[in-house]
Amino acid sequence: MKALCGGSNKGKGFRHPGIKEKGYDGGWWRFTLSSDRPSLRSSAIVVGAGGAGLRAAVGLAESGLETACISKLLPTRSHTVAAQGGINAALGNMTEDDWRWHMYDTVKGSDWLGDQDAIHYMTREAAKAVYELENYGMPFSRTSKGTIYQRALGGQSLEYGNGGQAYRTACAEDRTGHAMLHTLYGQSLKHNTNFFIEYFALDLLMVEGKCAGVICLSMEDGTLHRMFARNTVLATGGFGRAYFSCTSAHTSTGDGNAMVARAGLPNQDMEFVQFHPSGIYGAGVLITEGARGEGGYLLNRNGERFMERYAPTAKDLASRDVVSRSMNLEIKEGRGCGPEKDHIYLQLSHLPPEVIHERLPGIAETANIFSGIDITKQPIPVLPTVHYCMGGVPTNHRGQVISVAEDGTETTVEGLYAAGESACVSVHGANRLGANSLLDIVVFGRACALHIAENNDKGSPHLKVPEDIGHNSLADLERIRTASGDIPSAKLRLDMQKAMQSDVAVFRTEKSLSAGHSAVQQVEKDFQNRLSMRDRSLIWNSDLVETLEMRNLLTCASQTAKSALVRKESRGSHAREDFPERLDAEWMKHTLSWQKEGEDVKIGYRDVVLSTLDEKECASVPPRKRSY
Ligand code: FUM
Repeated sequence: MKALCGGSNKGKGFRHPGIKEKGYDGGWWRFTLSSDRPSLRSSAIVVGAGGAGLRAAVGLAESGLETACISKLLPTRSHTVAAQGGINAALGNMTEDDWRWHMYDTVKGSDWLGDQDAIHYMTREAAKAVYELENYGMPFSRTSKGTIYQRALGGQSLEYGNGGQAYRTACAEDRTGHAMLHTLYGQSLKHNTNFFIEYFALDLLMVEGKCAGVICLSMEDGTLHRMFARNTVLATGGFGRAYFSCTSAHTSTGDGNAMVARAGLPNQDMEFVQFHPSGIYGAGVLITEGARGEGGYLLNRNGERFMERYAPTAKDLASRDVVSRSMNLEIKEGRGCGPEKDHIYLQLSHLPPEVIHERLPGIAETANIFSGIDITKQPIPVLPTVHYCMGGVPTNHRGQVISVAEDGTETTVEGLYAAGESACVSVHGANRLGANSLLDIVVFGRACALHIAENNDKGSPHLKVPEDIGHNSLADLERIRTASGDIPSAKLRLDMQKAMQSDVAVFRTEKSLSAGHSAVQQVEKDFQNRLSMRDRSLIWNSDLVETLEMRNLLTCASQTAKSALVRKESRGSHAREDFPERLDAEWMKHTLSWQKEGEDVKIGYRDVVLSTLDEKECASVPPRKRSY
């Protein structure tokens, strides 16, 4: 890895010509090509320190590879911390269970857009992943026998849908992500991961289609760094903040997805955005599905448990796309709660107080803070809220990023991996099941580390790179930092978020999607031509970093709107009122989207993997109509 830092590097590096002319030298903008910090050249770089990034970092460091982890946040503030409900694995602690039943539920939940080889891998590895976390010290909730407690969650069944509700979600109260993140951070420190905290990754450094590392900005002192490694793992999280109301942290800005797009690589299935049924009305903050798993239920203004009509078997524990759509229909048909009939009630006050105190203490507090209610006495006003991006960087089940040529030829990108919400493996397909996300991040973070460790010796040579690699990123940064238009990025962000919220929503039509797509295109034009940056410093310039994040969100929003516009069917979270049926013959395929900045999104497709890794070990699940 090479560092770009202050100090004298005269004659060895380059400086972007625009920077010095504008008086910003101060040592901040210098690149070095030979560094006096030899430890900064790593075997592997992980971008992002949520669950996927930390699990990859732990595995890499544990295998003896020099590992750097770059994070724009203190790792324990990554969005994984907000995950509540739990992590799925067929441990069989509450009832008999089988990972093949979990595999079946996941394929069905994905509405047959998930790749069955990857789902096979994830569900088979799930128990191992949970026990590994337990051994790392993760404080799981316990049964009276001392085993890991597992709760019910949506879309989970026994015996391939024929055996009733499964209790498969291992949890730590309703703070499972919090417990996991702290556990993994501790492990990564134990194995001497080299952390670069509050470093914002700007771009991938690509040479002839191979990844040589990343270029990033230290937010603290404004220095720029090119970091080189034989292998780079993107684990940058989702892009929920492209929407106005979401459960995602403000930092979920699709940085990896946009970096991949700028590198000329595709994203996949960006139209599939999950709305979680229970975001707190008005605040969007998550109330875990675990609340319904523990016995809570939804009510309309007539006090009716309406889910019984939409999903007679699973009721409130149908999959999220089904529950969110049903809630929206209730509101649309005038049965919403409150003076404006614009939300739904989540009823929990009938639960024994000890269930709330032992299993749901976090949401009791959150509901009180954001709605001012006592959940032992009153229902929580909730509304479907953007929660998860099923789409992302296409990878295989080893985490290797896939590139697709114009003629459809697929290759893996040398030196580049992705895991977690930024990736699309694709185990979630068109709709993710609750608690499969914490599973995805640890299983595929680990898979990246395993594949890298198996294929790289500690001393593997680095790619030869041109001296000015990263130059374009600097030019972009300089253009943005000095933008002198008339619209601040906060206003542009709001325009984008409102357009996505109203027009690329739970229910979609050609008209709404065309409007959403055009509105996002207008924001793209304004970003290019009218952006105004007032603060031009480089030290803790939060406006600059938020503008860079906004640029990334815009790429994701644009690819989401366009991919949704062209998919003329309904599947999972993508509900087209004008094409209400799932049309497998034409549309059982992944959408690919490419976008160079300033250009429209290009669309392509690739096949869904319908066979498992080993049909003898686990049979694939043939497509059928989905009902709960
Ligand atoms: O409802 C929840 O606790 C969310 C879990 C998940 O998205 O996996």
